[in-house]
Amino acid sequence: MQTTAQERAARIVGRLDALFEIGRAAGTNRPGLGAGEQRAHDLVTGWMRDAGLEVSVDRAGNLFGRAMGAEPELPEVWTGSHLDTPPDGGRFDGALGVLAALDAVEAIGADGGAPRGLAAVAFRLEEGWRFGRGCFGSRAVCGMLEDDEADLRDPDGVTLGESFAGLGLGELPEAGWLDPPPACWVETHIEQGPTLADAGHPLGVVTSIAGMAGIELVFTGRRGHAGTVPMPLRADALAAAAGFVRAAHELARGLAGAVATIGRLDVSPGATNTIPGRVTAFADLRAPDAGALAALVDGAVAAARSAAEEAGCGVEVVPRWRYEPVAMHPGPMEALRRAVAAAGLEPVELPSGAGHDAAILAEAGIPTAMLFVRSDAGGVSHAPEEDTGADAVAAAVAVLEAALTELAA
Ligand code: GLV
Ligand code: MN
Ligand code: MN
Repeated sequence: MQTTAQERAARIVGRLDALFEIGRAAGTNRPGLGAGEQRAHDLVTGWMRDAGLEVSVDRAGNLFGRAMGAEPELPEVWTGSHLDTPPDGGRFDGALGVLAALDAVEAIGADGGAPRGLAAVAFRLEEGWRFGRGCFGSRAVCGMLEDDEADLRDPDGVTLGESFAGLGLGELPEAGWLDPPPACWVETHIEQGPTLADAGHPLGVVTSIAGMAGIELVFTGRRGHAGTVPMPLRADALAAAAGFVRAAHELARGLAGAVATIGRLDVSPGATNTIPGRVTAFADLRAPDAGALAALVDGAVAAARSAAEEAGCGVEVVPRWRYEPVAMHPGPMEALRRAVAAAGLEPVELPSGAGHDAAILAEAGIPTAMLFVRSDAGGVSHAPEEDTGADAVAAAVAVLEAALTELAA
């Protein structure tokens, strides 16, 4: 029985709703390598089985649903995204890419398959907020885990290694590819910004992914009594951190396309009547080109030093991660462009300011492309209000299926 585009989109929206209920508070809560992400993997595993896909979990806990190819010696075509979310996240970030992948791979399999095998993939722990470093699953697949990976701690002090073992996954995988590398990676993702909606387009083909750096800045001052230490004698670590936050924002405003976010401050001892003696600031710095990223990172470090000095404090700078900007590959990009045109849509192109597993696969040398799907609700993302209309979901699945069919031929 033929399924209409509207029926396919309705099934995906229903599944997004089911995933959204996991850890539901204001939004959905599915921290990477946590119970919520695992429940999402379990749900999607069931849907993959129902679709007749061959399901497996790799050594990093990534989920694969495969439609086998007629020529098994050929490298596979992979498509997907992630199922973890930031705190009180929305319905679409990551999950849309996994569900669109599942739907498209199921449809190609049901049509008798393709010469190359296809895999719908859910990578683990894409969001960087929990352990201060994201894209765990995709980096693991590409052999790009760091030596200190297992020792990273979440805000509750739980290590990444403990979380991983807690899911029954054992020890972290060693360096090196976990799977034979795929022929290409195609990731469908909500745009997470207003560009497509403002221009009235449901879909866009991504040209490049911004570079990004994560830096921890530990400001150290002197604890003291809030009532007795005269202002000129204080070394208030939060005053230093506040100076840094203002300076980092200023710096980003002065560099085209650059953004700086300090989304977390750990204030110690965190008592209202004690002068903060130590503050850890977590800076997320991004820019569309390598020169701007370097200027932003160097400038932020210099700003932290001068803000600390001005407040009579010290500062330790701990770089946590850095990814250079990366271009998408002309091969799979062209397949997406052709599929967009065949669907009667305008071939819009745009860069990505957000990070994605696609940046890791591209960095590892896999021909990679991304299909952006219109964000409604003003483009808000990493928030419960995140939205995409069913018309754009329907267009995305049709275009993804057509592009994958070409790439798997
Ligand atoms: C992923 O959501 C990111 O931080 O860009
Ligand atoms: Mn995200
Ligand atoms: Mn995402």
